[in-house]
Amino acid sequence: MLKINDFSAGYGNTQVLFNINLHIKKGDILGIIGPSGSGKSTLLRCLNRINEEDSNFYQNGEILLNGKDLLDINTPLHEIRKTVGLVFQKPCIFPCSIIDNVLFGLKFERNLTELQKRKLTEEILVDVGLFDEVKDRLKSSAQELSVGQQQRLCIARALILKPKILLLDEPTASLDPDTTNNIEQLVQSFAKKITTVFVTHNMEQARRTCNRVLVLNKGRVVQDGTKEQVFKAGTNPLFSSLIAQV
Ligand SMILES: Nc1ncnc2c1ncn2[C@@H]1O[C@H](COP(=O)(O)OP(=O)(O)OP(=O)(O)O)[C@@H](O)[C@H]1O
Ligand SMILES: [Mg+2]
Repeated sequence: MLKINDFSAGYGNTQVLFNINLHIKKGDILGIIGPSGSGKSTLLRCLNRINEEDSNFYQNGEILLNGKDLLDINTPLHEIRKTVGLVFQKPCIFPCSIIDNVLFGLKFERNLTELQKRKLTEEILVDVGLFDEVKDRLKSSAQELSVGQQQRLCIARALILKPKILLLDEPTASLDPDTTNNIEQLVQSFAKKITTVFVTHNMEQARRTCNRVLVLNKGRVVQDGTKEQVFKAGTNPLFSSLIAQV
């Protein structure tokens, strides 16, 4: 469903991604691993065109979502953001209430009543394992939440738009083991409906959660395959040294 063809990108004089070719299939949970600075976040950011807001940024190549080029200037940004959700490593909370954060992307949705929106919010908060913790303070500021709660809120805010692709950039980096486990199970539970790209520095997490793994090093794909293939390749000394840096 998502095809990346000969894609390169960088900032100013620094090229960060080199001739990436990748085919992500519907239902994939693709783990991206690689040393710090290898371009993982840059690649995710390109997939929902968030980098374009940086005047220093450049890119070449094609990113086709169901045959349509995401990079085509005629593809409206709001359509991309609705189809491709992005959750950052550090929770990016808006300065408003918990419920308004969840409903942010539906602000201009006129076909839903307030009651329907409330119901949707509750369902999605249950899905991300946050409902019980916030049900009595949905109208309180989201900034009062702990970092782990904020991260689950960000995932809820992305999921409420029913994206076809969810991009998660080290989403559990600031979460405790139980919450991490919840997020991993959540990703697996919606794999039938949502294709996920999951950047992680945690090998075990990639092994547990993903069905495919891509290894990036210095902006190039050095491994791409099922997790069985990629981790088996871990016997290769180059791969092992890369993994040790992740
Ligand atoms: N906005 C920017 N302007 C200039 N250079 C940038 C920008 N964002 C990232 N870079 C550079 O691009 C390279 C890749 O960064 P990126 O954030 O994609 O790496 P990463 O693999 O996600 O690393 P990490 O594991 O530390 O999150 C780095 O050298 C970084 O300094
Ligand atoms: Mg990163």
